[in-house]
This record gives sequence, structure tokens and C-alpha cells, in this order.
Amino acid sequence: NWTMQNFIDMEVEKIRELVGDRKVLLGLSGGVDSSVVGVLLNKAIGDQLTCIFVDHGLLRKDEGDQVMASLEGKFGLNVIRVDAKDRFMNKLAGVSDPEQKRKIIGNEFVYLFNDEALKLDGIDFLAQGTLYTDVIESGTATAQTIKSHHNVGGLPDDMTFELIEPLNTLFKDEVRELGLELEMPEALIWRQPFPGPGLGIRVIGDITEEKLEIVRESDAILRDEIKKAGLDRDIWQYFTVLPGFKSVGVMGDARTYDYTIGIRAITSIDGMTADFARIPWDVLQKISVRIVNEVKHVNRIVYDITSKPPSTVEWE
Ligand code: XMP
Repeated sequence: NWTMQNFIDMEVEKIRELVGDRKVLLGLSGGVDSSVVGVLLNKAIGDQLTCIFVDHGLLRKDEGDQVMASLEGKFGLNVIRVDAKDRFMNKLAGVSDPEQKRKIIGNEFVYLFNDEALKLDGIDFLAQGTLYTDVIESGTATAQTIKSHHNVGGLPDDMTFELIEPLNTLFKDEVRELGLELEMPEALIWRQPFPGPGLGIRVIGDITEEKLEIVRESDAILRDEIKKAGLDRDIWQYFTVLPGFKSVGVMGDARTYDYTIGIRAITSIDGMTADFARIPWDVLQKISVRIVNEVKHVNRIVYDITSKPPSTVEWE
């Protein structure tokens, strides 16, 4: 009989046999899949695993530190964190086209990963968090390809590794089950989908430090209130967006001229189609009041009530 514990035992055995005394490299994105691969490999081969976590500065509030605290702190993984925030900001300065932003972020990611990997000696394997769904979907044109989806940690061209993909027979829910069995934190296991380009595509148009800060802080408040309301497992994905225009408001006696924040929250099975989530008005009100009060330069909140199609989940 197939249990998750059996799966772990078998995979650990398989990985040990395959790897022997050689070394494995893994790119961590902060997401569920690569993290589970990391913990599983760590269980199998310990110090023979090196992870690279390229922090592009476009993660959500505190997320980079949380990844490190969990994987390096709790599980003792060997993680090289590349703090590349300034580099990404420089490359993205003045760029407003969404596909251009995606391209820059994706390329820079591979470049930095590559660069870091080249500093390491004698790596024979590259581990990836490929799922069964990725295996069956690869090569087929789906609605996803309407936008280019640059997933993090692409395989560098000029390096030859053998691939290890321990999740490639599993579906997403099984990966979560596996993570829980490995005693990984629930917050990481139930992490909502998050795009590779991160907050970079949630600041519409050109990205500045100030705009990023507004999106990061407002998003943290949204997530906090959704969790408090007990809705975090029901809503497939929820986040804030900064459209980048300003409008007039009034606070106290003074006229304000500040940014609008959009809230996007959807229910979905796989992100291919989606419906906007029916968040109760009082929860939305709380979120709205908190964002305007706590995040500087925001004076208006709007709620996105379009489905996919015709809209997409992300705003760009
Ligand atoms: P859209 O906006 O295409 O989003 O309806 C569907 C799902 O894909 C995510 N998404 C991305 N993921 N790189 C990613 O890794 C991307 O460039 C990207 N764009 C969208 C989106 O968050 C949603 O879950």
C-alpha cells in the first residue's frame, strides 16, 4: 500500500543510490515545490546538497527571511542567498512593458544562478521541483502561454548536469502532503501561487522603490486580514496591485493626491480560469481602512470584480 511515508523512504533510497558521494545543486524560489525538494534531498544526502536562493527583492514582505529561517534555520540546508535587489532594480529602472520586465527578471535570475553555480566545484546534479503536471503539459500550447511564464531557476545552457526531479510523479496536493509529512511549516506548504517575477508585475508600469514598498506593505495587510477572517484556504490567490495613477482624496482637512491600490482575489482550480472571490464586505472594509491608514501615499482602494476570462489573474 502506497503511503507518503513509503514514498519518502523509497525516494530517499533512490536518491542516495543515484547520487552516491557526488554533489547536487538546487535553486530555491521560496515556493512550495523547490522547498520540498530541498528538504527531501537534505534528508537523503545532507551536506552533498547546495542550494542557491536568488533574492530579487521582489518577494512579499519578509518572505526571503522566512525561507531562510525555515530551510537553513530549521532544516539545516546549506543555502547560498544571493541578495540581488539592487541589481534587479537597476536593470528594471524605467522599464514599463510587462513582457520586457518578465524577460529582464527571468534572464537576470538565470544569470545570477549560473554565476553562483560556477563558483561551486564538482556539482554533478541539478535538482528541480518539476511536478507531474509540468511533465504532461510541457510542449503543449495552453492559455498560460498567452503571457510568457518565466519560472525561476531555468537550466543554464552552458552547464551539463544530470537532472533530479523527485516530484515528477506527484500532483500539487501530493507535494503539500509530502511537505507536511516532512514536517515543513504550514505557511510554506499552503503558500498561495506566486509568480516568478513577483511584485515586479504587481507594480504596473515602471517600478520604483517607493511603489514596491506600497505594494509590499498593502499586500501584507491584505494577507493578514484574509488570514484573520479564516479565508486564506478558500481563496486561491489574493494580492494587491499598484496601477500607478493618482487620484484626489481628503484626509482630515487636507486634500490628498495619492495612489490607488487594487485588490485581486480569486477562486480557481488551476489558475487557467478564475472567478473573483466573494470576500464579505466587512472584511474588505477592514482591509481598505487599514491600507489607507497604514500605508503612506495610498488614498483609494478598488476591488477587482472580473473573472478570467476575460481578465487575467495578474494585472500585467
Ligand atoms: P494569469 O495572470 O496569466 O495568471 O491569469 C495565471 C497564474 O499564473 C501566475 N503568473 C505567473 N507565474 N511567472 C510565473 O511564474 C509569470 O510571469 C506569471 N504571470 C502570471 C499568476 O500569478 C497566476 O497564478
